[in-house]
Amino acid sequence: MTIKTLRVTGFPDGESVTAVFSVDDNKPAVSEWLKAHPTLQIDRMLARTGSSDVYALKGDMILKMMRVRHWSEHLKYYIGRYRALEEVNSNQQMAAAGLKVPKILAHGKALTPSHFSGISSYYLMQHVGSEYQEAADVWLTLETHARDQFYQQLIADVKKLADQQCIYSDLRLANVMTNSNGDLIWIDTRIKHYARRKTFLAKLKHVIGSFKQNSEGLLTDKEIQQFDEILLNFVES
Ligand SMILES: Nc1ncnc2c1ncn2[C@@H]1O[C@H](COP(=O)(O)OP(=O)(O)OP(=O)(O)O)[C@@H](O)[C@H]1O
Ligand SMILES: [Mg+2]
Repeated sequence: MTIKTLRVTGFPDGESVTAVFSVDDNKPAVSEWLKAHPTLQIDRMLARTGSSDVYALKGDMILKMMRVRHWSEHLKYYIGRYRALEEVNSNQQMAAAGLKVPKILAHGKALTPSHFSGISSYYLMQHVGSEYQEAADVWLTLETHARDQFYQQLIADVKKLADQQCIYSDLRLANVMTNSNGDLIWIDTRIKHYARRKTFLAKLKHVIGSFKQNSEGLLTDKEIQQFDEILLNFVES
């Protein structure tokens, strides 16, 4: 990791900012991309929620910026718990567990609250490819084999994490990307490890409950039952 100052231009309000990134430039592909793109140029905004802004950059990268929701987030930086870093670390843990995630090239922290107005931290990641869309958006149009392929992978991935007593906190079809083959890539990477078995099982139950609720009208009874089986296996083992 090295520290690099990069200029980000083309925000919707015409603003440009200089941001400090920790860059993962052990990998030649990262250094090459940054050499070819000395300024990060925003192409378009993909999403804006109360907690983050996601931009597509020229050169097929994504910049995700975390909004400050509470002043304490600035303090959390000093104990290494800023929100971008939580997603960066989880992304690496998910990759290590064998899940497919976009590669993260760099991440950073706004040095003062006014450095980026309202933004506390940010990271730069690979665009998963234009053939991928949020699973929630294309679920009902997927061919049966693609849908099966995707769903089996989703269950296998949730199990892989659960084997390590880890849970993906915001499990929703909107946070997994898929293509017409039903290949699956996780975004919005936030996982948490639960040391106590009892807390882990309660949380797993909760996350599976809200996944089913969020997917109402999308999942078949059989698909719902398959998800329940994950939970039963863990409760009984
Ligand atoms: N690596 C990526 N490649 C392509 N598109 C992406 C990528 N990351 C995010 N997106 C697009 O941006 C949207 C929002 O991303 P994400 O789910 O990470 O943020 P969010 O749900 O808005 O944020 P949060 O829940 O952290 O506030 C995604 O649904 C997807 O369409
Ligand atoms: Mg999301």
